[in-house]
Amino acid sequence: MKHIWLDCDPGHDDAMALILACHHPESRLIGVTTVAGNQSVEKTTRNARAVLAAIGCGQIPVFKGQSSAILKAMPFCAEIHGESGLDGRDGKPLFPLLADEEPDGFWLLNWKETLDKVWKETGEKVDLVAIGSLTNVALLLTLFPEVKSRIRITIMGGAMGIGNTGPVAEFNIENDPEAAHVVFESGVELAMVPLEVTHTALATPEILAAIGDSSPFRRKIQEMLLFFRDTYRDVFGFDDPPLHDPLAVLFVLHPDWFQSRKMRVDIERASELSRGQTVCDVHGRSSRLANCNVALSVDVDRFWKSMLDAVAKADGVIQEK
Ligand code: RIB
Ligand code: CA
Repeated sequence: MKHIWLDCDPGHDDAMALILACHHPESRLIGVTTVAGNQSVEKTTRNARAVLAAIGCGQIPVFKGQSSAILKAMPFCAEIHGESGLDGRDGKPLFPLLADEEPDGFWLLNWKETLDKVWKETGEKVDLVAIGSLTNVALLLTLFPEVKSRIRITIMGGAMGIGNTGPVAEFNIENDPEAAHVVFESGVELAMVPLEVTHTALATPEILAAIGDSSPFRRKIQEMLLFFRDTYRDVFGFDDPPLHDPLAVLFVLHPDWFQSRKMRVDIERASELSRGQTVCDVHGRSSRLANCNVALSVDVDRFWKSMLDAVAKADGVIQEK
């Protein structure tokens, strides 16, 4: 059993990561923090709560994190995720939004105290899966360095070559390169699932057919992926959308389904051409210490089997109500 904490910016693919983290048999999702990115942090928080409630996991604590990067405001990604951050093709939020209710206290302290409680209960490291910008994670490591020995970090982000929102920069890293630098220099056990891997996990028509439309929940998941398909087609020319974020959850649960390599990864922060690039020393040409286990490929069929099983489990929970 892996104890997982998701730091996310829901987002269509973040929603699929929440489903996998909640309903994979080897995963215990212990909490969620939200960050700005795909949309404002107010919207990503509403979406996280709405998805958790819709999949029978409304009891999972959600703490709203940073609304901007460490040094600057965040450019939201409405062209991919819509105005709400989790739109359907009708331009409306896909999941019923709950009333905004913020837990008392400072979100970082709430986060730290929840992690402390899990360590006391389990004595095991928590797998922190970061699938948005690394702003929240950088602040956690900076304010509470004692956390470092009790977590592993797995991120969806970065690219070894071509970027998405930048020529060589991926969205999550480009949104806050300074935060990414803090995380990659932290010395914490770190893994990265880059675009080269996530771009092989495409929600094809066969996958949509396998999800089917035999229940309101399955129709909603189909609608979510169809919206994501349309925007990814318009913006990036993809026939089918890549499901980035659930792959970072899968890397924690089944690292043996991936090929990966430990290497040096640095974050470009100065260049006006490549700010936000993950500079991956794939062939170990520099003398710099390797600091990250980078995924190189994934068994896509096994990913989809796990993802579809989690959708079926969530559907079953909904039907039981
Ligand atoms: O570049 C893809 C990443 O950016 C994914 O995490 C997606 O949700 C967006 O946050
Ligand atoms: Ca994301």
